[in-house]
Order: sequence, then C-alpha cells, then structure tokens
Amino acid sequence: MPDFQAILESIYQDAKQASDKGIVATYIPELAHIDKNNFAIHLRTSNGKCYGVGDFNKLFSIQSISKVLALSKAISLIGESVWDRIDVEPSGHPFNQLALLEINNGIPRNPFINSGAIVIADILVSNLENPKEDFLNYVRELSGDASINFNIDVAHSEQSTGFKNFAAANLLKSYKNLNNPVDKVLDFYFYQCSIEMSCSQLSSVFYLFANNGKCLQNKLHLTGSQVKRVNALMLTCGFYDEAGEFAFEVGLPGKSGVGGGIVALLPDHFVISTWSPGLNVKGNSKLGMLALEQFTTKTKLSIF
Ligand code: DON
Repeated sequence: MPDFQAILESIYQDAKQASDKGIVATYIPELAHIDKNNFAIHLRTSNGKCYGVGDFNKLFSIQSISKVLALSKAISLIGESVWDRIDVEPSGHPFNQLALLEINNGIPRNPFINSGAIVIADILVSNLENPKEDFLNYVRELSGDASINFNIDVAHSEQSTGFKNFAAANLLKSYKNLNNPVDKVLDFYFYQCSIEMSCSQLSSVFYLFANNGKCLQNKLHLTGSQVKRVNALMLTCGFYDEAGEFAFEVGLPGKSGVGGGIVALLPDHFVISTWSPGLNVKGNSKLGMLALEQFTTKTKLSIF
C-alpha cells in the first residue's frame, strides 16, 4: 500500500511553489474574489481511511461538479428515459458552447455541458416535490452531512449574469426539450451549482461512485450498471474539451467545476478531491489537474 499521506504532502509542496496557479473565474462575480493560493487535497479510500493536505475542510463553490449529483438523482427518478433527451458523447467544446446544441436539434451532447445539465435540472424540477430542498437533502444524505448548503450569494450572482445559460435554456425551449419555464429551471440550476463543500465533504458525497452505488451510509442509490454509466460519462465528458487530456494525464473518471474543485475516483479503491481556484484556459483547475496527475503517477493507481 503506498504511503498516501507522504505522497499528498509532496504534491502539496510542489503545488505551493508553482509560479503559475491559473486564473480564478470572474464571469460569476461572486467567485472573482477567491484567493488562488487556497489549495487542498483529500483522499478517502474504500477501506475507510482518510488523508488530507492543505485547506481540505474549507468550503468552496462546487459549481459543475454538482452536475454529476443532479444526473444521479435524475437517473434514480426516471431511469433510462434521461437518454431520450440528452446524448452521451463528448462535446470537444467548452462547457457553455451553444453551436452544437443547434446542430443537434436541441439534444445536448452530454449531461455535463451546461445545456445538458439544464435539461437534467428540468427533469428534477418536474419530478421533485420541492426541487431545491429535495436535491439538497439528497446531497446531504449521500454524505450523512446535514451542514452542506447552497451559497445564496453565488446563486444570485450567477442569476444576474448567466446570460449564456439563459440563451441555452431558451434554445432548449425552442426545440421543445424543456418542459418547465426557463426562469424556474435556471433558478434551480443556479442554486444547484452554488452548493458549497470542502474537499473532505466532496470525497464523502462521491463515495457511492467508487462503491457500486452504495453511499457512505450504506444505502443503495444507484445500481451497479447505473454507476458504470455515470463513471463512463465522467471519464469521457467530465472535463469538456479537456476530457482527453485528463484521461491521458490522470486516467480516472472525474468532474471539475469553475470554483476550482475536481473530484476523481477509482472504483473499489478511492475518491480523491482537489481544490485550487486558479483555472487553465479550458476552465479546469490548473494545479488540481497537475496534482491528480502526480497522484496517479506516484501511486500507479488509475483505471488504466
Ligand atoms: O453554468 C455555469 O457556467 C456554472 N454554474 C458552472 C460551470 C462550470 O463549473 C464549468 N466547469 N468547469
């Protein structure tokens, strides 16, 4: 068994010295003031051990990482019919690109680009009694952590500036791939993205994807084959037009968010979460990707 704590410490030392830490996302004004010197890694292994370095108990905005949780909830509510409205192909384009949506007649390429996540949000709005509250409770239940919450300032900040998401939702509506009103779906979507977690909480919430669908509380939320599909989508679509690069360098299913978080996992082995708010040009955490590459190289633990 590798000395996980020593490996995380050495990655942390390298990251602290990095001269280029990337650029913090500013298109959501509330995220623009986050200090890019924050850095954290947290590892939870399947045999119940946890390791961490840096600010692994500090909260950050999980943003697009929430799309995996929303997809899981949608699959557990309506099963395979999710795929009548969304494709499962990598987009090879940025997360907020709209051209492909038009070319594909309103069918998003996958559930992790924004248009796909907005269709998932529409499914949740249709199928949950109190969508925001029920979704938050689902996330809390996965981890057994009732302290997880929305950041309302972040949600409102995106609500007042998220013009491309309004464009995506309107485009979806024009193709009849949105059943609820645009404002209602986006209100849910912005709240969903605003959820805050620490790396340590993120590793707990994502535990079910490394554990055949059973969450940390030992409750079965997804079948083995549903988990296989969600993990396949994280591998092929989790990093937008950098999904190939992430598979090439890191070799794990994972998901990023513009808050600078990344979560990745090796089924039956571990969940690892990183946070470094500076992003690369593709919108993924620069040092987070580097840290995960070092982790799988040093431990020789990847799906490949
Ligand atoms: O919709 C948006 O643009 C954000 N709420 C989420 C984007 C995001 O996190 C992309 N991931 N790297």
